[in-house]
Amino acid sequence: MGDPIPFYSFAPAHQAIRDEVLAAMTSCYDSNWYVLGGQVQQFEAEYARWNGARHAVGVASGLDALHIALKALGIGPGQEVIVASNAYIACWLAIAATGATIVPAEPDPGTCNIDPRAVEQAISPRTAAVMPVHLFGQSCDMQPLLALAERRGIFIVEDNAQAHGARCAGRLTGSMGHINATSFYPTKNLGALGDGGAITTDDDELARFARAFRNYGSEKKYYNEYAGLNSRLDEIQAAVLRIKLKHLAEWNRQREQLAQLYLKNLQGLDGLQLPQIAPDCTHVWHIFVVQCENRDALQDHLAQQGIQTMIHYPVPPHLQKAFAHLGFRQGQFPIAESLARRCLSLPLFPGMTAEQVERVCKAIEASLTGLTG
Ligand SMILES: Cc1ncc(COP(=O)(O)O)c(C=O)c1O
Repeated sequence: MGDPIPFYSFAPAHQAIRDEVLAAMTSCYDSNWYVLGGQVQQFEAEYARWNGARHAVGVASGLDALHIALKALGIGPGQEVIVASNAYIACWLAIAATGATIVPAEPDPGTCNIDPRAVEQAISPRTAAVMPVHLFGQSCDMQPLLALAERRGIFIVEDNAQAHGARCAGRLTGSMGHINATSFYPTKNLGALGDGGAITTDDDELARFARAFRNYGSEKKYYNEYAGLNSRLDEIQAAVLRIKLKHLAEWNRQREQLAQLYLKNLQGLDGLQLPQIAPDCTHVWHIFVVQCENRDALQDHLAQQGIQTMIHYPVPPHLQKAFAHLGFRQGQFPIAESLARRCLSLPLFPGMTAEQVERVCKAIEASLTGLTG
């Protein structure tokens, strides 16, 4: 057995920018200004420009970004928000936090992204918004969703936490919805050194609301227009994100190369389903997810070879204890349930070597031969 292969390592990318990041952190330390200052303002301008949006509003997390985006649209009790049945729990939590009703729609089992036909079927007179979550790094099939939203007068709120830099029909994720949210959790393609998130929008009024709502609902200090949150991006995180944003394209390019190597080496293996990419959509490989009927046995075999993998996600939101009160049943969203049983995420991070990918592939091939042979 060779050296262990971690699921994710910050080391290669962080080593390369260590001096620059430490200098920026020292400069924040010496500035005597730690919350909502020049670093946040500049990061917001740079991120908005990078994402092709008029505004970016820095907040404390991706969950808060989703919550504030929904609040900006005035979404609340009596309204419905359609979201994927296999989305990350934060998407469901954000809708729940507004008091709106969560309406799950099943994903396409190949791309794992929300199926526009399922969204169409889930629409009711109370539907206020659809939340496409660009899962694992691949853009959702946005064209039919945007057309549907236009036709039915409903809002689109993209969750771009996992897909910084992905595109659909040439347009960047995070720039297509009325208001969109992202996370800068450290392992994201663009990650801070702690928690962080942002809202992006072209709408001046939605951006003004989000800016106030993240800061106690206040535009003028000690005068409060809304019952808001304290959800601000720190100066230090903004300074780090400004540096990392400059490297994002290169890190995404490395992710693409590693993913292509996985796809080439794993093609045609019996019992393994590779990630599928929808026409017109691109993938930035936040996570490389394969599907396998014998997933747990495969994961155990890889662990024995020192290869760390993860499961995104073992329990679909409708079966989480946190949502037991909503009364969803086992079997109600079979595609989400099947993905929870079959998905396995393989190691992938900027700076991972081709040799490491090849070792993972060989170990998978050996495991599958043992499992099926
Ligand atoms: C798809 C998705 N949405 C929302 C979030 C929530 O972001 P955060 O952890 O910054 O609250 C995450 C990440 O953790 C995510 O992957």
